[in-house]
Amino acid sequence: MPLSALLAAVLLLLAASGMTLATPSELPRFREAPAFRNGPGCATAPTVHIAMTLDAAYLRGSLAGVLSVLRHASCPESLFFHFLATRPRRFRPAVAASFPSLAFDVYRFDPDLVRGRISSSVRRALDQPLNYARIYLADILPRSVRRVIYFDSDLVVVDDVARLWATDLAPDHVLAAPEYCHANFTSYFTDRFWSDANFPRSFSGRSRPPCYFNTGVMVMELDRWRAGGYTRMLESWMEVQKREARIYELGSMPPFLLVFAGEVKGVEHRWNQHGLGGDNVEGLCRDLHPGPVSLLHWSGKGKPWLRLDAGHSCPLDALWAPYDLLLRDGHHDLFADV
Ligand SMILES: *[C@@H]1O[C@H](CO)[C@@H](O)[C@H](O)[C@H]1NC(C)=O
Repeated sequence: MPLSALLAAVLLLLAASGMTLATPSELPRFREAPAFRNGPGCATAPTVHIAMTLDAAYLRGSLAGVLSVLRHASCPESLFFHFLATRPRRFRPAVAASFPSLAFDVYRFDPDLVRGRISSSVRRALDQPLNYARIYLADILPRSVRRVIYFDSDLVVVDDVARLWATDLAPDHVLAAPEYCHANFTSYFTDRFWSDANFPRSFSGRSRPPCYFNTGVMVMELDRWRAGGYTRMLESWMEVQKREARIYELGSMPPFLLVFAGEVKGVEHRWNQHGLGGDNVEGLCRDLHPGPVSLLHWSGKGKPWLRLDAGHSCPLDALWAPYDLLLRDGHHDLFADV
């Protein structure tokens, strides 16, 4: 019997027995978002380049993030999304199905680029290779893309992203992000780091005292990044951590602090109201930081879609829910309208 006939026979048998061929790797289904059109005054609007990652675990979060950006942009048709995925062909159809008129591309991120450089952190989700993809944006995105906004997949934007895009990085900043100078910078590195003869000296000679910043929202000047060889600098700190000494506990963020803290162009705090997922171990509910809000970020252990599904959500998770595009049982979710 030819192989195809055999396969057909097996399929028939399965169908007859009422079994489904659903595999664990099948992606959930998402509804189509409304089309968003440019308003007046967009003819001269710049193209805003946004980079995000796509994977099975965070797809729901990524799509909600995209919807939130479109929903609040005054020139949504002037946006271009650059997605990084380890399996681009798997995710392209999912994005196109929810956003048929979105300008986007999906690039392959090779997990082997970082696999040998990742050391385990306090939370497994932080150790996924894709979590390090932001380090490689300058290499992976086309040379023609000279600036990009990087967004994590657990956030929603509630303001016009063009405002963030307009951040002035002159004359020579590589990276812009909200800085948190009241946070205890010492605590992001181990005693081993601070007691070393050389490691702490990495921070001397910085333009300003080093401060914590969250790497989930960054404006990156890719030309300067490429010229300065920053990917290699980040990699070399990861290699120190992996092979030489345990100098930090948290995933991909500390290498960014090591390379950029004190040289970051500050952005208003409203652009990263982070920590809404709770801390990295307990995931307890958090409140907003004081001040205006342009972006809500569920960084930390808890994710709004998991808490909502489990029926024990935090109060602020209700602000994420309107951007959820997940289709349940093939029916539109009545509560998911934007
Ligand atoms: C900052 O963190 C370090 C290390 O965790 C700790 O030893 C120090 O007391 C902290 N400083 C303040 C001002 O809380």
